[in-house]
Amino acid sequence: MRAEKVSPLLALGLLVAGLCSSVHCLQENVTPEGQHKGTAVDDHALASSNTDFAFSLYKQLALKNPNKNVIFSPLSVSIALGFLSLGARGSTLTEILEGLKFNLTEIQETEIHQGFQHLLQTLNRPSNQLQLSVGNAMFVQDQLKLLDKFREDAHVLYSSEAFSTNFGDPEAARSLINDYVKNKTQGKIEELFKVLSPETVLVLVNYIYFKARWQIPFDPKCTQQAEFHVSENETVQVSMMNIALVIPYFRDEELGCTLVELTYTSNDSALFILPDEGKMQDLEAKLIPETLTRWRNSLQPRLIHTLYLPKFSISSDYNLEDTLSELSIQKVFTSEADLSGITGVKNLKVSQVVHSAVLDVDEEGTEGAAATGVEIIPLSSLTTIVRFNRPFLIAAILKDTQSIIFLGKVTNPTQA
Ligand SMILES: *[C@@H]1O[C@H](CO)[C@@H](O)[C@H](O)[C@H]1NC(C)=O
Ligand SMILES: *[C@@H]1O[C@H](CO)[C@@H](O)[C@H](O)[C@H]1NC(C)=O
Ligand SMILES: *[C@@H]1O[C@H](CO)[C@@H](O)[C@H](O)[C@H]1NC(C)=O
Ligand SMILES: *[C@@H]1O[C@H](CO)[C@@H](O)[C@H](O)[C@H]1NC(C)=O
Repeated sequence: MRAEKVSPLLALGLLVAGLCSSVHCLQENVTPEGQHKGTAVDDHALASSNTDFAFSLYKQLALKNPNKNVIFSPLSVSIALGFLSLGARGSTLTEILEGLKFNLTEIQETEIHQGFQHLLQTLNRPSNQLQLSVGNAMFVQDQLKLLDKFREDAHVLYSSEAFSTNFGDPEAARSLINDYVKNKTQGKIEELFKVLSPETVLVLVNYIYFKARWQIPFDPKCTQQAEFHVSENETVQVSMMNIALVIPYFRDEELGCTLVELTYTSNDSALFILPDEGKMQDLEAKLIPETLTRWRNSLQPRLIHTLYLPKFSISSDYNLEDTLSELSIQKVFTSEADLSGITGVKNLKVSQVVHSAVLDVDEEGTEGAAATGVEIIPLSSLTTIVRFNRPFLIAAILKDTQSIIFLGKVTNPTQA
């Protein structure tokens, strides 16, 4: 009875986007052919750290956006930060890698980069059952002199394309980057950067596009309007799909939730987790890699007489600077930043980390896209810009007597 009552879809988005990526690579790990042991171990360490990071980031985003849909691609953010870490040194580097949940007594920096390199190769392996493309690019200001090592590692380890860009025209640069991302995500991510600083010297970008069909699709003729309980007192009408089938199922009494797994034709899968009424927050707090492992080990095929699942299309845009700071990635945003691996000099910092994601689930399957952008500016710029673009104070002082003749606060210049 309980499993029939629909409760909010908050966690779902992440889990679909996040888990199908990590499930995909976990499955790849166990294919023995053509892999020496070292790489397989690295893949596992990488997947487990990435899952840890995924859940940590989820908790921050869910906390910051209460009662809103949450959708992001943890994989995209991890790869973008891994890419950024190529240019980081000292404690700026340690913070990023530990923020990504790598245990640096167990895994070395080079192994992490090789892990991402192998992951990118695995994910981009052609498949006729799955459309998946993951890639990186960097947009470099014409005058910025990159170290050869950074340029090479970006290309070899992160398969990054490089584009020379004139950031002096920030609108043109923004269009160039946004159009690139839009193209790579089949038009799904239209405007990754809402603004771009004219001081920008380098932008790193990661994109992901994913499209997969259910092994057993839902019949569109069975889809009907039905109620979805957004909260205790709020109900909305949704297009509710339904189907009878045998699928992996688990009733988790400990955490008070019901899980089903839907498989794509590629054998990748999406896990749907339905907390009991009022249990969403408890469940969110328990989202840790061990919980996922326990769930994966507990799912058992079962005949579901009717599975009701709404069709949905959700999207979100985030600025991740504050969120990453809460995950202890801080220095890279400050004047203490050490990004000397990029130019050989300690003169750069990160000014923005933007992320956009969309996820559509319907009778046929799932289509999702995400992108992460990292904007890098000089630590101290030769051009001084002071922008009074937020509330400020004004004091008019008469020179001879030092009398304050006017004192005011401008909170809204358009108000009389
Ligand atoms: C990192 O790994 C070491 C050795 O396996 C372990 O003792 C330590 O507790 C780990 N640190 C964290 C933060 O998990
Ligand atoms: C992306 O760019 C390629 C090459 O310029 C072009 O052939 C393709 O149609 C573009 N795709 C989209 C979705 O814009
Ligand atoms: C729902 O409505 C009931 C009765 O009108 C009220 O007591 C309760 O506080 C409401 N709950 C929420 C979450 O708004
Ligand atoms: C999916 O798994 C089944 C059973 O293990 C296998 O027969 C099939 O070839 C797999 N499909 C793909 C696309 O890997």
